[in-house]
Amino acid sequence: MVTNWVLSDAPAVADLTRLTAYDLRCEHRVEPLGIGTRRPRLSWRLASPARGDRQDAFRVQVLRDGVQVWDSGWRSEWETYVDHGGAPLTSQTDYVWQLSVRDAAGEVTSAEATFATGLFHDDEWEAHWIEHDYETDPYFEPPVDRQEPRTVRQATIAPPRHYRRSFELTRPISRARVYVTAHGLYQFSANGQRIGNDELTPGWTDYRERVAYQTYDVTGLLHEGENVIGAVLGEGWWSGYVGWDTRSHAHHYGKKPQLLAQLVVDHPDGSRTVVATDGRWVERVGPIRFADLLMGESYDARLELGDWSSPGYDASDWAPAGDLGGDVSTLIAATTDPVRVTEEVPAVAVTALESGRFIVDLGQNVAGRVRLRVRGAQAGQQIRLRHGEMLQADGSLYTANLRTADATDYFVSAGADEEFFEPIFTVHGFRYVEVDGYPGELTADDVVGQVLHSDTPVAGRFECSDAGVNQLLSNIRWGQRGNFVSVPTDCPQRDERLGWTADAQIFLPTAAYQADVLTFFENWFADLAVAQTGEGAIPDVIPHVITGRHGTPAWADAATIVPWTLYRIYGDERVLRTAWPVMRRWVDYVHRANPDLIWRHRTSGHYGDWLQVGVVTDRDLLATAYFARSVEFTAAAARVLGLADEAAAYSELWEKVRAAFVAEFVDAEGKLRGDTQTGYLLPLAFGLLDEQAEQTAVKQLVADLERRGRSLTTGFAGVALLCPMLTKYGHADLAYDLLHDDRYPSWGYSIKHGATTIWERWDGWTEENGFGPVAMNSFNHYSLGSVGEWLYADVAGISQSPESVGFRDLVINPHPGGRLTWAKASYDTPTGRVSTHWQLSDGAFTLDVTIPPGATATIHIPTSAPDSVEESGHPLTTAEGLTPLEPTPTTAICRAHPGTYRFTTPA
Ligand code: BGC
Repeated sequence: MVTNWVLSDAPAVADLTRLTAYDLRCEHRVEPLGIGTRRPRLSWRLASPARGDRQDAFRVQVLRDGVQVWDSGWRSEWETYVDHGGAPLTSQTDYVWQLSVRDAAGEVTSAEATFATGLFHDDEWEAHWIEHDYETDPYFEPPVDRQEPRTVRQATIAPPRHYRRSFELTRPISRARVYVTAHGLYQFSANGQRIGNDELTPGWTDYRERVAYQTYDVTGLLHEGENVIGAVLGEGWWSGYVGWDTRSHAHHYGKKPQLLAQLVVDHPDGSRTVVATDGRWVERVGPIRFADLLMGESYDARLELGDWSSPGYDASDWAPAGDLGGDVSTLIAATTDPVRVTEEVPAVAVTALESGRFIVDLGQNVAGRVRLRVRGAQAGQQIRLRHGEMLQADGSLYTANLRTADATDYFVSAGADEEFFEPIFTVHGFRYVEVDGYPGELTADDVVGQVLHSDTPVAGRFECSDAGVNQLLSNIRWGQRGNFVSVPTDCPQRDERLGWTADAQIFLPTAAYQADVLTFFENWFADLAVAQTGEGAIPDVIPHVITGRHGTPAWADAATIVPWTLYRIYGDERVLRTAWPVMRRWVDYVHRANPDLIWRHRTSGHYGDWLQVGVVTDRDLLATAYFARSVEFTAAAARVLGLADEAAAYSELWEKVRAAFVAEFVDAEGKLRGDTQTGYLLPLAFGLLDEQAEQTAVKQLVADLERRGRSLTTGFAGVALLCPMLTKYGHADLAYDLLHDDRYPSWGYSIKHGATTIWERWDGWTEENGFGPVAMNSFNHYSLGSVGEWLYADVAGISQSPESVGFRDLVINPHPGGRLTWAKASYDTPTGRVSTHWQLSDGAFTLDVTIPPGATATIHIPTSAPDSVEESGHPLTTAEGLTPLEPTPTTAICRAHPGTYRFTTPA
């Protein structure tokens, strides 16, 4: 299976002979089809074996049908991107782009990649929305409750239906593309073959405003004569259950699913055939009797339709689809890669329970589904699969924390010797599967876990000498995979799975170290923008459904934090340009409601430092700190965008909020109101205190930790800041103690008790009380995993300077400590891969660093003797490519050009 998740890899520098461009992208995606913009951004990464190498100049040429449509000419720039600068691209066209880069020695290397445009004009769409028409369907069955519903409600989920259209092609085919989407979920087929490996398409967006269409190449699948295209259509987020909303109608956006597809076939003579959804399509129910993202899927193999999407199939008893006309006003070309199956996880154990049921353990909590092999079942025999994250003490499945999500799939056998079942329109958060009704003995080979998530390219890798820390990183990574399912969700298992805004903004810096999440978050932010209220507030969850709340401190501040963070990490100014009106309207909203600059009014849900332990961080303090943060980022965005007046106004406002914060929350002794860890961390991290107050705050923070036996009390808002601030202010030892801690509450405590993902709450399960509060107890919630940023930035030591964007000016500043004797990490910045690897052995400290071409770096080498530090055997003063800076008593510091370096020093 081809996915970005496994594909993204940089060339090994050691294998290169010269500057090499790789990972060519268009609109930040690998060879996208159907882009929706006429002036796309073209970008690339660089690697070079030569120290001090750089891209001296680049040239981009864009070609259509072998004819050049744009030539950037040689540009003496180190930028690794350029916006297409020729005549605007044309609709439905394939392009090749060629890149040449010239290195410091004048040598040129080239690479090329392709992209294709989608439909730019509404009138190019001939497709109509089609849906099931109850009037004409001979197989009509009213929607029913599925078998054995665990939670009884009037489910109105109708069985997914198959749609097809047969047509003749009378001329040869030079190119065929299909543009397709659904109100609901679709899986598309042509001539008997499923198209692509995308899942849960078109993904979840605010369908009232934005419905993404996908583009697939089907050239090789069509032929002269009869052809068939078709799709299976399910409810998904459109009309299935979403969140905890158990209204009898699950219909958040619409009542029943609808399909829209347009096949465009180009012939060598220049003519075109278009086959689009309309009333000529026919449809009927098939083997899928029920499918819902939360509830699960039921499949009756006896009702399979055979080769329903192949030519020659007798579809005479299928019913005409209802034709709803061609309103394409909400359609947008997909801007991000969809969900895919990125990994198969084998079962590690199968246990037979007394009840005759089996419990299958994947050994890893994931989001996805299973593929089940069934052998020797009788026709009509039903097998039930229930999914859960945990087991009860007696070894049976624990599902209470799923709330009303059934997470149950059913398979009814057709009686064949060997059958396979894999649902397509549901996703579960689970580690364990209870299999009931299986014929004979179930073995581990009969079950495979299919891991589903948005196919964001892997960007970072981290490993160290400590197994516990590696497990923590693994849990963080799996938390990301389990929750980046089309939108950044809070959890993948219970009846929630919503795009909670604080969770997203808090985890973003960690997420971005692990995967390239730019287009994923841009897509989500577009839904945030459309959900902004007339007054400027932002709903608690995006896409905006269910919650009536909006404007919550730390949640709604995603409006400024997400775009600013994306800009800093990826260096693409366009993020800010799009977000600017949202940012500004958001801070103006808070300001209007709180003219004295302490954010007390219009705080909506106000969750405070959500899921903190044993303390209550002052809510006004938290809110006002976030207000300052949002104003700061808005001012910064204005500066980048060249909006001088706005920049000045928001900078001034920031000064005032900061002053108001200090006046309100800092007492005469320098204590912050409430005296909690998060209460100190917020102003420290957000730069709200002057130097002296800062020092006092650090002392108080440390004192609090010491008083508690070096134990944390932070919730969602504070936890991300804890280790970074302790490290910044000289207390890395404390940060390491928290990292290695395995008493309650700590990350280690969950790991000691078998966690393979990050838990929602510190007390998800405790020795004293067993399972935590069942009303809200997810075992796969990434927020508390925001410590991942610290592992990359401060433990492995990869970050960027405060003024840098796109990791152009790196800071390499590893902090050896705790039980670690080595750590290594690599990270794919927009210009190329940076890596570090430090080791402590025999009293010596070694640090290997690779800085990609196009970047500069300030490298900090921890040492007991700064003068004795050597790079590849040379003192820093004579080493090639380095400029030593003033050392501190414990650190040698130097500026470095791109290249690979090895520093050695006594520890
Ligand atoms: C979600 C959170 C979210 C919180 C807000 C919970 O139900 O799971 O992650 O941020 O509500 O209160």
